[in-house]
Order: sequence, then structure tokens, then C-alpha cells
Amino acid sequence: MKFFLDTANIEEIKKADDWGLLDGVTTNPTLIAKTGKPFLQVAKEIIEVLGDRPVSLEVVATDYEGMVKQAREIAKLGPNVAVKIPMTADGIKAVKTLSEEGIKTNVTLVFSPMQALLAAKAGATYVSPFVGRLDDISMEGIKLIEEIVAIYNNYGFETEIIVASVRHPEHVRMAALLGADIATIPFAVMEKLFKHPLTDIGLERFLKDWNALPEDFKPDFLK
Ligand code: E4P
Repeated sequence: MKFFLDTANIEEIKKADDWGLLDGVTTNPTLIAKTGKPFLQVAKEIIEVLGDRPVSLEVVATDYEGMVKQAREIAKLGPNVAVKIPMTADGIKAVKTLSEEGIKTNVTLVFSPMQALLAAKAGATYVSPFVGRLDDISMEGIKLIEEIVAIYNNYGFETEIIVASVRHPEHVRMAALLGADIATIPFAVMEKLFKHPLTDIGLERFLKDWNALPEDFKPDFLK
């Protein structure tokens, strides 16, 4: 399972990269806006840190021609760039054109299994179903992942499923159990994945017991 970081914040990206667990980054216009920096500056900084790992950057046009034009420019930023295209009829048409040109795409704002099926049929590299936003309206976000995984497996689609709009570790756990290819995780949630109170209590006890031993019981390399 791959872990992408769902952020445009370069400090968060560097910290997650330092853990050695970062497989990619996803952004959206909201996340870019939050940085308070120009789009190209942010995009280039992220691409530089990620090297050959995938970075998703989103178009803002909503018509077919506009999306294709913007996607071609965004794709020029690096071979690892996947262009996020919104899930609309024009968007799917654009994904078809772009995938035929060898441009990687990530169909975003996906809220139903049928939308995910259309994205795969159009040749999308990635599909991003939003689990948290479904939960927010009292629908079962994870159920959507279960259905997309089943549909893609039925037909052998190669489109990778990015579980998006992740709000807490439970979303990541369920995504992993269902065999989703990727979870794109906000930094604060990624930090929580490391944590368990019994780990902290256990470590404290081990060290207390160790420290109570006479010094000459301990080899130099464990002092
Ligand atoms: C990533 O691809 C999505 O844009 C992102 O996960 C949306 O998350 P949100 O619902 O927390 O805004």
C-alpha cells in the first residue's frame, strides 16, 4: 500500500519524507491556496523533493479544451506529475485524450462507484474517491472504496485507487483492509498512525526497569 501526503505544505512534505514512508503527494486548489505562495513555486518545490515519485496537481478549467490545455502545461513540470481532472463529462473526455497522449491523470471528486468506473474506462492513471466528505453527509465513505475495489478487480482495470479525503487513522486501516492501492493522508493523520498509548507506556516501563539495573550489568554499547 502506498502512502501519499495530502498537502501542498513543503515543510510537512519534508518531514514525512524524512520518515522514509512517503510514496507521493496530492494537492488540490484549496491546499495550494493555503500555502499563500504562487502555484508554480509550490509545484516546483514539491516536485524537487519528490524526485521520481508521483505528484498530483489539479487543473482549474472546467471545459474540455481548457482542461486539456492546462493539463498539457502541468504535465510538462515533470515526468512524475499526474494531472488531477474533476469528475465531469468534460473531465472524462479530457482524461481519455490525455491518457492517449501518455499524460498521467488522477480523476478527482469521485463520490460513486459508477464515476470510478467511467474514470477507469477513460484510462485514468488514478481515481480519487473522497471518503471523508461522504462521511460528512452521513454516507458510508469506506463502502465506496469496497465497491470500487470489487469493480476494478472484476475487470482487471489498472487505474490505481487513491483513498482521498482521509480524516483519521480508521480510514487508512479500512483502506488497507480493502486493498486500496494508495491512501492520500493529511500530515496530522499520518503522525497519528505511529501512535498507540500502550507503546508509550510499554517503552517507559522497559526503560525504567533497564535503568534500575546496576551499571556493571550493562555493556558499554547499551549505556
Ligand atoms: C485529494 O486528492 C483530495 O483533494 C483531498 O483528499 C480532499 O480532502 P478534504 O475532503 O479533506 O478536503
